[in-house]
Amino acid sequence: MDRRSPGAFVTGFPIRHSRSPLIHGHWLKEHGIDGRYDAVEVAPQDFAAFIDRLRHGESAFVGGNVTLPHKEAAIALVDEADETAREIGAANTLWLNDGKVHATNTDGYGFLANLDAAAAAWDKDASARSAVVLGAGGASRAVILALRDRGFGTIHVVNRTPERAQVLADRFGSRIEAHRLDALAELLDGGGFFVNTSSLGMDGNDAPPIDFTTMAGDAVVTDIVYAPLHTPFLRWATAAGLRTVDGLGMLLHQAVPGFERWFGVRPNVSAQLRQVIVDDLEGER
Ligand code: ATR
Repeated sequence: MDRRSPGAFVTGFPIRHSRSPLIHGHWLKEHGIDGRYDAVEVAPQDFAAFIDRLRHGESAFVGGNVTLPHKEAAIALVDEADETAREIGAANTLWLNDGKVHATNTDGYGFLANLDAAAAAWDKDASARSAVVLGAGGASRAVILALRDRGFGTIHVVNRTPERAQVLADRFGSRIEAHRLDALAELLDGGGFFVNTSSLGMDGNDAPPIDFTTMAGDAVVTDIVYAPLHTPFLRWATAAGLRTVDGLGMLLHQAVPGFERWFGVRPNVSAQLRQVIVDDLEGER
């Protein structure tokens, strides 16, 4: 690869399920860019060496995405992790600049951009309202911080293991409150926003039914799970007459800042791109 055709990567272990090559491949083609985006499987014990080769320009990549299980390790290995990545404790986007490897985390950006695009005024009167977040795992962190930074008055984090929710409340500030699962019904009553960040409902797994009918009439319900696209949470919320936003848009929007950095063009999240991924998800069922 020569210098005129920049290359970016997505690395994880395993990496074959990643949809990132489809997303970035679509944009490269759309913009007629002579560049590459490659999936590179890197075992945990080899990840430090991978970052070293990137730093020294030996891999010919200008940057890339990191996914499981490297997102936390990346923070410690790069030269400059920005405040967002450090606060979340995980990075998903890397780039080279002046011989240094930089890192950020675009999951929170993707989460907000998806809602902004799909559910106008979803954050109306945020400071006077509360948001309910189900789940306190790795994926919840970017979501909780994004809601905090968007100005929600209280962010209720509900988790099967309440201690994990408490760790996040202690870490992310006084507007975050930790709860047990059995508090959910009460928290939803009159509420304006719910997001599932847990693995419940993923890949068709069961999720305990939730009654969304008590939420405010203009409430928005979203899920960061996108396989299946219509998760149990979204189906129940639709049945309750609420606005819903699926998780696929978050995946698409989180990819935007990385592409812009590596290839110099800010790409669009179009209906056509969305269809490419929907077709791929359906092909897998
Ligand atoms: P990720 O990094 O994808 O968030 P994770 O750290 O394993 O993955 O977190 C998974 C989340 O789904 C957690 O909030 C987990 O609850 P616990 O912290 O109690 O484990 C939640 N989760 C998974 N299976 C669940 C179940 N059967 N019932 C309730 N919550 C569940």
